[in-house]
Amino acid sequence: MLEVTNLEVVYHQVVLVLKGVTLRVPAGETVALLGPNGAGKTTALRAVTGLLDIHEGRITKGSVRFDGREVAGRRADAIVGGGLAQVMEGRRVLVDLSVEENLLAGAWSLPRREAAAELERAFERFAILADRRRQQAGYLSGGEQQMLAIARALMSRPRMLLLDEPSLGLAPRVVGEVAELISTLAAEGLSILLVEQNAAMALSVASHASILENGRIVREGPAAELAADEDVREFYLGLGGDGRTDYRRVKHYRRRKRWLS
Ligand SMILES: Nc1ncnc2c1ncn2[C@@H]1O[C@H](COP(=O)(O)OP(=O)(O)OP(=O)(O)O)[C@@H](O)[C@H]1O
Ligand SMILES: [Mg+2]
Repeated sequence: MLEVTNLEVVYHQVVLVLKGVTLRVPAGETVALLGPNGAGKTTALRAVTGLLDIHEGRITKGSVRFDGREVAGRRADAIVGGGLAQVMEGRRVLVDLSVEENLLAGAWSLPRREAAAELERAFERFAILADRRRQQAGYLSGGEQQMLAIARALMSRPRMLLLDEPSLGLAPRVVGEVAELISTLAAEGLSILLVEQNAAMALSVASHASILENGRIVREGPAAELAADEDVREFYLGLGGDGRTDYRRVKHYRRRKRWLS
């Protein structure tokens, strides 16, 4: 359903940030995109939702297709209207607006009556938001703001949701709640591309995962397989395996991978 093929992205016409990224999110699946700071995860999402322009970024090679249609070059609002919604990094809620106003802002692509119906559905799903519907969003806790950001993205009735590090800065219990919500949405048939640095959380909810490092996919496979992989456990899950701190094996793997591709 979402097909990113051999994508290259350059910022300010000089900085090559994505160096040939290929990624698929089949309909109804949850796919995780993992990787350290600066790997290019957010950039990949920007390429999908048409937000590169405002960051002086440009696709220089490859393609992004959603439902078989090329996304590159289309306007961000047309892309959202077409069934994709994104929750941006740092849960950008509109802090001065009320919870309800934030949600309605996510429904701009719907006729007013449908937006009202969608609002009620959001309040049914998120009881905490219903209780605070008239409160200023800036007064919500971090976890509540993340829920609001996700609820707002759902207001446009997307078929695919892109989440950029939804667990960032949240307490473990709240991370668990976000993970549970993602699983519920997936069970309802929503397709999800989940960008995370919290590999344990992401691998627990995703069916497939890719690891991005320095603009390249260095590993990919079924989430369960990656979660069981020794290198992944050591470098992404912080689980020491047999206590080795040997980086060479990963490097070796990468060389082999490059050679194969
Ligand atoms: N607007 C921009 N102009 C120039 N360089 C940028 C711009 N935005 C991002 N970059 C650079 O592109 C690289 C990838 O950034 P990106 O934000 O995509 O990484 P990320 O994987 O999302 O990292 P993080 O986990 O910290 O959010 C970084 O080196 C970053 O400095
Ligand atoms: Mg990012």
